[in-house]
Amino acid sequence: MNCCVVGLQWGDEGKGKVVDILAEKSDLVVRYGGGANAGHTVIIGDERFALHLMPSGAVRPGTVCVIANGVVVDPEVLLEEINGLAERGISLDGRLLISENAHVVLDYHKLEDRLREEALGKHKIGTTARGIGPCYADKVGRSYAVRMADFRNLAALREKLDDIVAYKNKLFGALYDAAPINAADIFEKCSRWSDALSDSIVNTTEYLYSALDVKKNILFEGAQGALLDLDHGTFPYVTSSNASALGLGPGCGVSGKWVDTFLGVVKAYTTRVGAGPFPTEQDNEIGQWIRDRGHEYGTTTGRPRRCGWFDAVAVGFTTRLGGINQIAMMHLDTLAGLEELKICRAYRVDGKETTFFPGDAERLSRAECVYETVAGWTEDLSTIEHYADLPDGVKNYVATVERLVGAPITMLGVGPKRTQIIYRD
Ligand code: GDP
Ligand code: IMO
Ligand code: MG
Repeated sequence: MNCCVVGLQWGDEGKGKVVDILAEKSDLVVRYGGGANAGHTVIIGDERFALHLMPSGAVRPGTVCVIANGVVVDPEVLLEEINGLAERGISLDGRLLISENAHVVLDYHKLEDRLREEALGKHKIGTTARGIGPCYADKVGRSYAVRMADFRNLAALREKLDDIVAYKNKLFGALYDAAPINAADIFEKCSRWSDALSDSIVNTTEYLYSALDVKKNILFEGAQGALLDLDHGTFPYVTSSNASALGLGPGCGVSGKWVDTFLGVVKAYTTRVGAGPFPTEQDNEIGQWIRDRGHEYGTTTGRPRRCGWFDAVAVGFTTRLGGINQIAMMHLDTLAGLEELKICRAYRVDGKETTFFPGDAERLSRAECVYETVAGWTEDLSTIEHYADLPDGVKNYVATVERLVGAPITMLGVGPKRTQIIYRD
């Protein structure tokens, strides 16, 4: 059985936890998009792992970890993760594969990300400053790109970096008056990374096809969330890759035809980090209450997350977009204690009601929410193991969301730990 796990909101839905749980029955876990902008949390007992590039299956010793072509790889972060896991007794030796076609995030990408955001001032996107946009831009631009395959031929890479750095220095000098960067320093890092990673660099598409041929169980781990999708999200307040389930094919070369389950992950409410429209945002004491209860601070940047009610218009859209056939709803425990809960069932834009998510950020910023209000619950859910034992308020909340978004909710999160999950048949 093959399963693809994707976020259906603006990221941080709890994908890391869900992937860790499903990885128990998977042979391979594959990251196919995004880069070190992702922060996926796995909590096992009292141990907390925050993974940025490494598939969340890494914490399970028998699992093969694949970083496919659609990922933009920052080798510095990747090696820190490999070493950090090794220090905690988890070895990646012989079970990490990195696509030769994956593009490499270098220092000048991170520099450009910062310079551009500073120059944008109040119009900034609020990126994670991990060099993601500039690296994907170089990939699309083709002429100044470095891929993992380039680590195999260091002499050619040295020449290539001279050209690229000369170009970047002209650009950054003219646009931002930035101090020049040094090609030799970047090359020195690349040659170290090449020594450390060369054995893992392969054609991951070929590897995945052979795994499909022998019916291995493959788990595909999405990064970010579908509302941050470059083409279908709240552009320009998005990330630079197809973060919806549509990114799977280009991101690793495997068609959705081979995937049995597209599992969308949502929180029982909504969060967003960075700028951009957020119709159900509660920039008030309710939002602060959710942030405090849910510990809503970024896994990658530590920024406070913006919090608001569940948006069934947005999630209905991303469910359809990704061909989602099951949903995992996390953080139900966090909502305990609110007398009533609101779920956005439609928007009113320019005086007209719509249940279709406007693709345009400006139009979305003018959307007023039409809410359905349901009763909350006060019970602590964190030790409940069976669906039947959940309070009626939770069951009603889940049923209301299912009706509005059009897909069954089959997994319910009642706490951050691996064990705090309830399955619903
Ligand atoms: P990801 O990017 O989608 O993997 O999500 P993050 O790890 O960035 O953020 C999700 C946060 O919620 C993490 O701190 C998780 O430990 C936590 N979490 C996941 N599921 C639950 C849940 O059901 N209840 C609670 N209270 N926390 C959860
Ligand atoms: P995971 O995988 C939440 C957001 C940033 C910013 C926008 C663009 O942990 O869910 P970028 O650095 O990608 O150019 O930033 O996208 N963003 C995320 N928000 N979770 C993530 O990943 C995110 N990755 C990017 O905050 O608004
Ligand atoms: Mg995250």
